[in-house]
Amino acid sequence: MITRDEALKLIREHVKNEKLIKHMIAVEAIMRELAKRLGEVEELWGLVGLLHDIDYEMTKSQMERHGIVGAEMLKGKLPEEALEAIRAHNEKTGHEPKTKLAKALIAADNISGLIVAAALVMPHKKLEEVKLDTLKRKFKDRDFARGANREKIKLCEEIGLSLEEFLELSLNALKKISHELGL
Ligand SMILES: [Fe+2]
Repeated sequence: MITRDEALKLIREHVKNEKLIKHMIAVEAIMRELAKRLGEVEELWGLVGLLHDIDYEMTKSQMERHGIVGAEMLKGKLPEEALEAIRAHNEKTGHEPKTKLAKALIAADNISGLIVAAALVMPHKKLEEVKLDTLKRKFKDRDFARGANREKIKLCEEIGLSLEEFLELSLNALKKISHELGL
């Protein structure tokens, strides 16, 4: 399996958008906390989060290839279960999320967007200003951050976490790396 440093190097080669890199680091942080909570392999789950959008800039014009190309690039670097999770995080590929890892990635991808959006509407645009109650309200407000798919966030329930627990775990995961995220 690839190391985290190697993964970051690969990302730097293929992803130019700093915002996208931060997004990938955010999803990594959530995936790590989820793995710890569920007794899964933290390093593997973290890498899946970190690398899931590696092909994003290459597949922009053909979104049905997003995830497929990434998995191809990562062959031999991550186990097949991880590659399949990366394919399945994009529903346009037609790959269904079947494993806990695949479902976790989809939930983490979407909750990270909601949390970042919540931070950006705080008075000082800081993650520390976002409380669990704030996040719960933002989750319920369907007009807020519409790109964060609420049904996909609820996939957390299929991997053994209540929605509230998942919101809390994810919020705390991002607060721990707020400096890296610049939030
Ligand atoms: Fe993503």
